[in-house]
Amino acid sequence: MPEHDFIKAAFGQPHDRTPIWVMRQAGRYLPAYRAVREKVSFAELCRNPHLMAEVTRQPIDTFGFDAAILFSDILLPLEPMGIKVSYEEGGPTLHPAVRDPKDVLALNAYDPGDKMAHVLEGIREIKRRLNDVVPLIGFCGAPFTLATYLVEGGGSASFTEIKKFVYNHPREAETLLGKLAEISGQYLKRQIEAGADAVQLFDTWGGILSPEFYRRFSLPYIKTVFDICKTRGVPRILYLNFTRPYLADLAELDCEVVSVDWRTDLTEAMRILDGKAIQGNLDPHLLFGPGELVRAEALRILETTAKKDGFIFNLGHGILPQTPTENVRILVETVHSFKRFA
Ligand code: CP3
Repeated sequence: MPEHDFIKAAFGQPHDRTPIWVMRQAGRYLPAYRAVREKVSFAELCRNPHLMAEVTRQPIDTFGFDAAILFSDILLPLEPMGIKVSYEEGGPTLHPAVRDPKDVLALNAYDPGDKMAHVLEGIREIKRRLNDVVPLIGFCGAPFTLATYLVEGGGSASFTEIKKFVYNHPREAETLLGKLAEISGQYLKRQIEAGADAVQLFDTWGGILSPEFYRRFSLPYIKTVFDICKTRGVPRILYLNFTRPYLADLAELDCEVVSVDWRTDLTEAMRILDGKAIQGNLDPHLLFGPGELVRAEALRILETTAKKDGFIFNLGHGILPQTPTENVRILVETVHSFKRFA
């Protein structure tokens, strides 16, 4: 495999051009994706290796991003635990929700090499179709984020149920998080064996916890996942939304890259996370602004990080479904034409 700038940047190694990809880059803002979705449901799409490969490639072919991300969803590995996940207009719903300590015991432990074989087959198909033009990122949800969906039974605005669960039943919460960490670690390990060149763990909701409780209910389980899947030459990325209060704790974590949101000051993040690569951090809503603003903000981020070998351009969270594609084009073009050493 040729040395890609994305992999070099993830390991903090010298490279010429700042690499860029965006979270949720294969999705509804892309007309080609919407055309595929007119014919198949999201659930079917996630089970069809040929279509997974097609939509994974779409943003690479359309915009020239420097990395591809597996087309799948963080909630799929919850299904073999005995949970029905359905994707509806208003967001996903999970049934039955985990509300009681005894519900935790009812969840099945399983071998992802067996029960997630369809995703692993998808990875092998994507790798064939990518032909090493760009590296492939595999992923899964961080244990605490997966637990929020399990306990809330879907998305949430207030996170009351998950907080009630962890504060009233801390031991059972730890049992649940331990089960999720074991499955997630094995799942990422299998993804790497199937061909993933890097892996990203999405801790979308860990930031609802105080740093004190983050240290108890999220961080140790992320550590377990990263320990299980640690593989020479394969960078491990942690994405955490609401990143700033946790930076000092993340600096201690054994992983190569931390992906930060737009509320996080990059100069401060580079100082605190010294020795790690950083990914981020444009506000996804900025892509709804005028093209000139997109260019100016991208340049500000590029100039701030130009001297650091370990920087990967991304958004602070996933790209939104209504995003104008013209601004995505401007963003990639701005990043690719920037001279780091000028
Ligand atoms: O980044 C990529 O392009 C790869 C694919 C990917 C999807 N979901 C596809 C998807 C990835 C990496 C995810 C991760 C994911 N899924 C997260 C973590 C990252 C984040 O955004 O915080 C979370 C929390 C989920 C759970 C999830 N899946 C929600 C809340 C929703 C509904 C809301 C929404 O944005 O649609 C989904 C559905 C989903 N996952 C879609 C896609 C493309 C939309 C499905 C459709 O086509 O209708």
